Amino acid sequence: MAGHSLFITGATGFIGRRLLQNLDHERYHKIYCLIRKENDAARLPPLPSNCQLVIGDLNRPLTYATSLAECQTVIHMAAATGKATQADYFQINATGTKALVEQCEQHGVRNFLYLSTIAVTYPDISLYFYAKSKAMGEVQVKESRLNYLILRPTIVLGHGGQIWNTFYKLARLPFLIIPGTGQVQIQPIHIDDLVEHLRALLISDVFSNQIIELGGNEKMSFETFLRLIYERVHGRSPLSVNIPLRPVLAVLSLIDRYFPDRLPFNSGQLSAFRFDSTADPDLSLSSSHKMRPLNQTINDLIDWEKEDESRRILSKECDAFTYYLIRQGPSDFIRQKYIKAHEVNLNLHSTNLGIVDRLQMATSIRSSLAVKIADSYSAIFSRSCLIRKKIVLLLAILESSSSTYKHFDLPQGGGRAFLFGRMMLQGIIFAALFIFSSMIFFPLTLIDRLSKERK
Ligand SMILES: NC(=O)c1ccc[n+]([C@@H]2O[C@H](COP(=O)([O-])OP(=O)(O)OC[C@H]3O[C@@H](n4cnc5c(N)ncnc54)[C@H](OP(=O)(O)O)[C@@H]3O)[C@@H](O)[C@H]2O)c1
Repeated sequence: MAGHSLFITGATGFIGRRLLQNLDHERYHKIYCLIRKENDAARLPPLPSNCQLVIGDLNRPLTYATSLAECQTVIHMAAATGKATQADYFQINATGTKALVEQCEQHGVRNFLYLSTIAVTYPDISLYFYAKSKAMGEVQVKESRLNYLILRPTIVLGHGGQIWNTFYKLARLPFLIIPGTGQVQIQPIHIDDLVEHLRALLISDVFSNQIIELGGNEKMSFETFLRLIYERVHGRSPLSVNIPLRPVLAVLSLIDRYFPDRLPFNSGQLSAFRFDSTADPDLSLSSSHKMRPLNQTINDLIDWEKEDESRRILSKECDAFTYYLIRQGPSDFIRQKYIKAHEVNLNLHSTNLGIVDRLQMATSIRSSLAVKIADSYSAIFSRSCLIRKKIVLLLAILESSSSTYKHFDLPQGGGRAFLFGRMMLQGIIFAALFIFSSMIFFPLTLIDRLSKERK
């Protein structure tokens, strides 16, 4: 394979990043990745030495034509996905693909792998501009002189993927909202299974002008799928409400037309709730790769989300506490140290918290003033509470970090009178906060103690 070079579009995307991480880099002389802006490189995984970034745009062929001329194979994943304007879908997915295909023909590229979507098979895509534009992209590829493979994945699930984020948000609501009847069939595939298939196709290097549809190993109704996520998130079966699609689509298409930027999604995106998204067995690949069971995929993704969420909360806590202590935000280094300390110190994860601790923790991630109020009460009445343990931990981190130790080590300027004045002022503020916080927390402390005594 010496001398064989690869050109990849969409490397900064959800699937592109994962593919880049798992590509057999050593098989290629060079791997060119088309990215739109230089600082997008920061979003890519660590790149091997034979990877070269090409700053450009699908619709500006001059930006990438020279690199293309050195390549035998192109993997085309770049697309306008999720919510985009109608113009962008067509400009990028149809016109952009046409431009790329023409450049490939002109520069002697042999093989073309086009990542399309199962949505092109929906019976009605007249108002689903994403699917329509991807179908137009397919036509460009099929009508070209290139040896091609068109891969149509079903719903791709993975951490950070737009589709998974939407399902997870839906499943976190107190009851399950199911657009449509919920009875359409889906066959989601884990991103790693998709990437594994892409790798295998690249290794086999057979580009036989074929269309391949690719889904996971289980088919189920949308409703069953959403219920599985809901049950795993909430630990119980959901109450569900079906939203009839027809009226919703009618209203959405009006909003799309007259106020296109108002909603976080467009009417076309609801098509996945109208039509089956399953792979046609006649167009499927026979592969020895064993796909992940859907249950395992859901469990893994939810575990990820929970970890992510707890990291997000710790990060917010760290922001509020640092501002409280040194009146400036923390650096990434301090945030990481703070989160790491929580991974190793189980005392900071008490699951058996009283009402006061829970209220203090819940409010103090909101602002440094809330921390101040909580801490003024704890300083007198509850010195071993959770919030104090966390503040002491952060104090230790700040005191030993090169960027913040000066806040504690350097004497403050001003003369004695200034010092005295400041101490007076701080004392008055503390007293005011203490009175205020006692009015909130003292009754709660009493309730907590009484209920513990009763138990
Ligand atoms: N995710 C799924 O569930 C799924 C399912 C079926 C099929 N697919 C297909 O798989 C492919 C990858 O999907 P994805 O989820 O990874 O998409 P994504 O996360 O939205 O990434 C899209 C990629 O396209 C790039 N791009 C967009 N416009 C471009 C332009 N004009 N010039 C150059 N690059 C451009 C983006 O670059 P920036 O980073 O600069 O925006 C990004 O790298 C797409 O073709 C999609 O249709 C995805």
